[in-house]
Amino acid sequence: MKDRRKLFVKSYGCQMNVYDSHRMADTLAPEGYVETATPDDADLIVLNTCHIREKAAEKVYSELGRLRELKDEAALQGRDVKIAVAGCVAQAEGKEIFRRSPAVDLVVGPQSYHRLPEMLGRTAHGKVIDTEFPPEDKFDRLAAPSSAAIRKRGVSAFITVQEGCDKFCTFCVVPYTRGVEVSRPVEKIVAEAERLADAGVREITLVGQNVNAYHGDDAGGRDATLARLLYRLADIPGLVRLRYTTSHPCDMADDLIAAHRDLPALMPQLHLPVQSGSDRMLEAMNRRHTRADYVRVVEKLRAARPDITFSSDFIVGFPGESDADFDDTMRLVAEVDFVAAYTFKYSPRPGTPAADMEQLPEAVKDERLQRLQREIENRQTAFLARCRGQTFDVLFDRAGRRPGQIAGRSPYLQTVQVMAPTSFIGEVVPVTITDMGRNTLFGAVADTLANSSPQADHSHVEVLGA
Ligand code: 5AD
Ligand code: SF4
Repeated sequence: MKDRRKLFVKSYGCQMNVYDSHRMADTLAPEGYVETATPDDADLIVLNTCHIREKAAEKVYSELGRLRELKDEAALQGRDVKIAVAGCVAQAEGKEIFRRSPAVDLVVGPQSYHRLPEMLGRTAHGKVIDTEFPPEDKFDRLAAPSSAAIRKRGVSAFITVQEGCDKFCTFCVVPYTRGVEVSRPVEKIVAEAERLADAGVREITLVGQNVNAYHGDDAGGRDATLARLLYRLADIPGLVRLRYTTSHPCDMADDLIAAHRDLPALMPQLHLPVQSGSDRMLEAMNRRHTRADYVRVVEKLRAARPDITFSSDFIVGFPGESDADFDDTMRLVAEVDFVAAYTFKYSPRPGTPAADMEQLPEAVKDERLQRLQREIENRQTAFLARCRGQTFDVLFDRAGRRPGQIAGRSPYLQTVQVMAPTSFIGEVVPVTITDMGRNTLFGAVADTLANSSPQADHSHVEVLGA
């Protein structure tokens, strides 16, 4: 075993970055790196960055400013702290990062994480950068997590099954930073899922920039869809919940919709970004589908799985968006009844087609964002209110805030707080919902409900973010 050194990894942006951060930590573990929860005592700090909107990218540079001070202070005490920038900012900005933040020692793009140990060795001699798309498969070379690492990360895990995007929406940097669509082979994913399940993972979310465009080779070298992969994973003992994100409406194939009908493990919640409810905007965004196409997909999914709920991403203030276009978005929110959404003001990204179009005033974007957010919040609240009195399965995954309380997720992704023993963590247990907070549900384990006080007081419980 090499010298023990401390590693701090901070993830920005999407769930793929969370997954990648884990795999980087796994790959650095044999080099003697042990994860620490704070940058203060770290020997190596990795920022796994996001480039999707300007705000996300700028956050990285302000964090690097703070880390520079930390690095200087450590140097005064004779400690050499290395700073690495990974992720999409690394891929998009490359050497520019060294210019803006001279404290950075290493810049590594998402396709080169398996080369990290070797790259770190080279930082002794100066700055190191790798933003190639190497021919070898990084997933084959990234170390697998130990059982202890899996257990520490909890009962829900991510697996990246697909990377990159061929869609070229006119606002989006992903096709440039993450490259073309690539899918991992079925058997590799199944083996990874089995390993996770053996170590106690109960829920797996398959991750990809365009996850439902997944087309991986099966054992016989034939093409397998996401649906086929899901049927395989549903057979793994111990895995009781499956999810996938993020999907494109054009890739919601009929076999995937049928999987929602056939597989109880496939959770009835789908993140299906629509971005806008206006056909004119969808066209300008190069989304390749109409509003009616989207509604049709939603209807088919509801026919397959009547209790399914939908969340979306929305962009307001895209170049050329009129009041009428925005009203179309508001109407679509009501028509589909989205119960959650990420809402964004359009942010021009260098190198994307929409960045060169005429931009809307910031005030217009602000006003539309607020109206949309209010509408989504109202629908979220209404959904939580409808849950009262219902009984559904909760996967308990952590201790609650209060003594005696544990927390988990509903099938629809809300946090549920329940008074129950910690031995329930890792179990799926039916819970009857008794009350709601702003983003959280409160309940009682279904078969104990009859014995508990009907006036159970939940008002003292703080609301946790869902
Ligand atoms: N401006 C604002 N939002 C964006 N997104 C992607 N690119 C931009 C941009 N330039 C949003 C989309 C996407 C989510 C991940 O981020 O809604 O679905
Ligand atoms: Fe970006 Fe569009 Fe690809 Fe999604 S589908 S990653 S929004 S280009």
